[in-house]
Formats: sequence, structure tokens, C-alpha cells
Amino acid sequence: MKLFLMTLLLGGLTLWNGRAADITKIEGRAAGWDITTRRSVCQLRLDGAGGIYPVFWGDRACAGVSPEQNRKRANGPFRLDEVPVRGTYADKMPVLEVVYADGTRDCELTLVSADVVSVEGRETLKIVQRDKHYPLEVVSYLRVLPEYDLIEKWIEVTNTARRGKEEIRIENLLSGSALLPADRYFLTHHSGQWFREYQLRKTELTAGVKSLLSRDFFAFENTPWFAVTNAPGDDAHHAEVWFGQVHYSGNWRIDFEATHSSHLQIVGGINFWDTELSLLPGQSFRSPKFSMGYTPDGTEDAAQLAHAYVRGEILPAPHRDRIRPVLYNSWYATAFDVDEEQQLALARRAKEIGVELFVIDDGWFKGRKSDNAGLGDWTVDPEKFPNGLQSMISRINELGLDFGIWVEPEMINPNSDLYRKHPDWVLNFPNRERTEWRNQLTLNLAREDVYQYLLKSMTDLLAQNNIKFVKWDRNRGLTQPGWPEADRRIQREVRVRYMENLYRLIETLRERFPEVIFENCSSGGGRPDLGMLQRMDQTWASDNTDPIDRLFIQYGYLSAWPANTMVCWTNNSDYHRAGLSLDYTFDVAMQGVLGIGQDITKWNDREMATAKRKIAEYKEVRELVQRGVADRLRSPFEGNRSAVQYTEAGASRAAVFCYNLGETMEGTTVQMRESQMLRLRSLDPGKKYRINNDAATYTGDYLMKIGIRWPVQGAYKSAVIRITEI
Ligand code: DGJ
Repeated sequence: MKLFLMTLLLGGLTLWNGRAADITKIEGRAAGWDITTRRSVCQLRLDGAGGIYPVFWGDRACAGVSPEQNRKRANGPFRLDEVPVRGTYADKMPVLEVVYADGTRDCELTLVSADVVSVEGRETLKIVQRDKHYPLEVVSYLRVLPEYDLIEKWIEVTNTARRGKEEIRIENLLSGSALLPADRYFLTHHSGQWFREYQLRKTELTAGVKSLLSRDFFAFENTPWFAVTNAPGDDAHHAEVWFGQVHYSGNWRIDFEATHSSHLQIVGGINFWDTELSLLPGQSFRSPKFSMGYTPDGTEDAAQLAHAYVRGEILPAPHRDRIRPVLYNSWYATAFDVDEEQQLALARRAKEIGVELFVIDDGWFKGRKSDNAGLGDWTVDPEKFPNGLQSMISRINELGLDFGIWVEPEMINPNSDLYRKHPDWVLNFPNRERTEWRNQLTLNLAREDVYQYLLKSMTDLLAQNNIKFVKWDRNRGLTQPGWPEADRRIQREVRVRYMENLYRLIETLRERFPEVIFENCSSGGGRPDLGMLQRMDQTWASDNTDPIDRLFIQYGYLSAWPANTMVCWTNNSDYHRAGLSLDYTFDVAMQGVLGIGQDITKWNDREMATAKRKIAEYKEVRELVQRGVADRLRSPFEGNRSAVQYTEAGASRAAVFCYNLGETMEGTTVQMRESQMLRLRSLDPGKKYRINNDAATYTGDYLMKIGIRWPVQGAYKSAVIRITEI
């Protein structure tokens, strides 16, 4: 007990609510706050003149050590405010830029209070600051999630004037800023495009600014995720890593500014490019969250923390722990040319191989003969489905399958009844062409009438039919994002209001139909972010279903998001690559939420038998895949092999997915470059395990230190290895 108390005192921690506090007030000369997670500490200090600023964020060894003592790691004279604003000195990246009614563009904040409050059951530091003269209140939040080594940041700004009409214009409001200790830093991020999502890139952050961002609501080029390390080389397991995500699906940005003195400032939130907000007296605006974490154990640990965080805190609570069903999607089989009997033929075959959910994709609604027409008119096409949808759904349900449907609510074809009736409902500028993209325009969801129309259309669809799953697609980026019908004062709020109403729409539908599983899709994986994953249960990771390409896409996806959100289908195009077997195709798709995409009415008996066997195998391991700890053992970005291990909590069972990639597998170069042993992870060193049904047993210690022999021979071959505790 004495020892325990001493540890607490030495660690500089106090007790809060009977347990060690996550946020500790530091008194004395270096007064401020220490915010601790399992392995990190973030230190904020008061400057005695109304300012609050970060001095250190990194290893928890520094908790309780004053910044003066910790000169080596703390930021010393490098001075940055916790909420850097445009005002006085303008040498750091601001998270807030305002213009007051008299034209003053300088903001000067002074601290009003800093208190530990509880937000959704978590200790949160609430910092209230006010402008020294103008009626602006800035409340910034740091919510601590110690078990994930994460802090969530967001900011709320309010025009506190009680009377009058004087607005405050917000030209920029990000969600938060962070300062890393002076060091040499390297950024890993996603870069990609349609069909090539989530490719991993690592680059040194030399003095200057690097930005990851979206301007048109697509996140193909970059995603709102990052990992920064001070390790130039291998950073998988033994490296300090700072990582984070912006929880937003519209325009977002994450900026990294490295200085010549080696400090690194990171800011993230809404990208205010082309946006401006007006705050009238009494009005507030709250930014989305920017969650940031620290681990001393490398990018793999950062990925696992992100997986646990998404599964434990972000995903919609009703289905958070639910095992995702094996689905069949008819898009690649039938495209727009759908009818009841043909979908039923697919459903019967799907049932035979073990599918649980049958999904009809695009093409079922009025006038939708191609991508040239129909979007906006969300009623069933009477020519294709003269008996309505429910007749087909009932027959599919009788087979023992749930039914799901595709929608693209945010979009409209000019060739639709809706557009003919409401041409002003789309984003547009007067005197400008309305640029079509896949023959479609974007509905202006900032408008209340558009929101109400979509809410009614989707509610009717879900209420009138036994639909258990919705694939929510969006197939173009923004162009001409104008709202000329609105008051000039708020016209540049259109992007932000669009996102508010999109989130509101999905949330309201979820409240009305809590049973329904929602899948997030945007021309494949064009909208992967925590704003969506907070409201959608899973993500269609890419339109590219080629298994080799998918190994890269899925590996990159798993850097930021967990396997139970990563939807992977087998598909016809698999066969374009000589030598790829259906087994291989399944082994790749089994890494996430399994779906089948081929025209299975054309499959022969052998293919049907393979699919049946692989789906049964998936059902045996999917609990590990969807709920277990993911260890990416071999990166396809670094060699000609790839391996991912999923281990259940308690380390009694694991499944290891191993793949050989291209032709050079037959050659010697690869073998010389790549170890023949595969060291496993996340097992219990003291437990004994069996590999598949082999008689031999091995300790976890052995399997993690010595490993198993690489189990796959030859190009384009794969294996799923089961590790079971004896
Ligand atoms: C794009 C999606 O990514 C595809 O899976 C499919 O749903 C098509 N849209 C349908 O138009």
C-alpha cells in the first residue's frame, strides 16, 4: 500500500473518483495539466498571463516530470498556444481565424477557466477562453481515452453578444493542434485514387508544411488518417508513433508543419477552403473531433489501438459487437439489368453456398436502365418489378436469407422526375454549367426541403419492405458547390450544412430502423473516415476486387480501420490474372467482411463446392477476423509475400492468412530477400499451441520468437493456418 501511494506521488498523479486520474492538475511554478493515458502524457502549462500552451506530448515516463527537468524532450522555448489563433504573432498554423464585425481580423484569447468535466463518461479537460475585447468564446475539449492511448480534441466557438446583429465570421476552425517534441519525423499516410485506395507512403517531414486534405468530399488522394514516427526505417514494432484521424466526411485537412528547429505541429479538422461561417449573436459552431494517440510500440500497435477504438467507441452501438453476415451482391452479375426471377436464381445459388444476406445493387428503381437516369426517384421500377419489391424479398426471405438494397440518396440524374420538378435542388452557380459526373449532379443537402424529401423517400423504402441492409453509395465529387437560393450571408456554409444534414439523415434513419445494417460506399472506398464509421457499420473498401491489388488495398485499410468494417468480395475479374484460383480469391476476401460478387448462376459444380467449403471455413474463423487482434506480419509493400494474423482475446485461437504474390516467387531473389520463417504475434508465450491438425505442439514463445516455416509454395498461392491452444 505504502509502495502504491509512493508510486502515485512519484508519478505526480492524484486520485480522482477512486482511481488514478487521467487529467491531473499541476500546481506551483509550472502550473498546468498532465493528461495521461496508459503509455503517454500530454503536458499543458499556464504562462501566468492568460495563456495555456502544450510543452510535451509523448512517453508517459515524463508524467510528473516538470518541463524544466525534462529539458531534453520538452519543447523548451518553442512557444505555441493550445488553441493557436490568427492574431498577434502569425508564425504558427492557426486553428481559428475570425473576422469581427468592425473588420478586425486579429483574435486575442485569454483563459477564463480550465476544468475537468465528464463527457460521455470520460474525463475531459474543458478549456474556456475569450477574446480580450470582442464577444467570442472559444471552448476547447481534450477527452481522454486512456486504454486506447488517445485524446480526442474538438472546439466550440460562440458569438456571446446578447443583442444586436453583429456577426462574427469564421474563416477557419480546425478541431485541434498538437506539438511534438523536437526530433526528426517521418509521416506515413494513405495515397490513392479510385481502384487504388489506401496505398501506404512514408516520407520525411523536412522544414515546411505538408497537407493531407480533401476539397471535393472524396478521400481518394489521401484519407483523414496519419501516423508520424521518429524512426526512419522499420517502425512496425519498436518506434514512437503519433497517430490520428479527423472524424469528418466532407472537406477535411491535416497539416504538418516541421520547423528548422525540428519541432512538429499537427493540426486537423474541417478544411475551410471555400467555406466561411457566420455566427450571429448567440450562435455557436462545434468542430468535429480530431483524435490523436501515442504509442512507443510502433505502427502495428498504432493500428491495433485504432481498431480497438473504432470497435469500442466509434461504430454505431446497436451493431458494434455483431458478427457481420456473409453477403452476396448482384452488381457484377447483373448490373442495371435486374428482375425478380433472375435475382431469385442468384439468391438460391447464394443460399446453397452458405451466404446469409442477399443484396441487390444499383438498377432496381424507376427508370434506372443505365447510369444515365433514375437517381432521385426512389420508388421501385414497375417494368422490372411489376409485383413490387416486397414480393421478391419475401421469396428471398423464405430461402432463409436476409435482404439488402443499394441506394445513392445524395445524387440525382438530370433525367429523373425529381430533377424535372426541382432543378433548383442541386448544387449550382448561376451562369455556370452544371458539370455532370457519371451523368449525375449532387443534391443540395444543405436545404431543409431536400433533407425532408430524402428522409421520406428512404423511410418509405425501409418501412414498406423487409430490408435489413442498406449499401449507401455516392459516386461523384463536388463541382459548382453553390447555393444561390440562400441568403448571401450563409451561402459559403453550404458544404458544412450539407454534412450536418447528411449525418442527421443517416442518424434519423438509424433511429427509425435500428435493425438495419448500413454499408458505407463512395465509388468504392472514397469516403472512409470516422465520421462515416460513427454512423455506418462497414465500408466497401474498393471497386477493385482483383485479389493481388486487394492485398495492398486491405493492408493499407487496416492501418486505420478494423477488419469488421472492411468489406471484401470475391469477383469475376479475379480470373483475369493467369494462375489465380478461386481458393486464393476467397483467402484474400476472407481477411475482412466476406462478400461474393460473381455471377454464381454460371458456376460449375466444382466452383460451387469450392465456394461452399471456403464460406464454411470463413464462418469458422470470422469471429477471429472480425473481433480479434490483427497483426500484419508481412507487408506486400515490402516484399513478394503478405500475411495477416487474427488472434482472439485470450490468445487461445488465431488464424494466419498467408499469400505469395507475383511470378518472381519462383525465383531466388525473393527467397534471398525474405525470411523463410514467419514469426507470429499476440500469442501467450506460456501456452502450447497446435498448428492446423499437426501432431506437434509449440509454445507461444517459440511461435513468436522462432516462428513457423513460410507455408506457401509457388506464385499466387495462399494458405489459412489455424493456431489452436491445446
Ligand atoms: C459504385 C460502387 O462502388 C459499386 O460497388 C456499385 O455499387 C456501383 N457504384 C453501382 O452503381
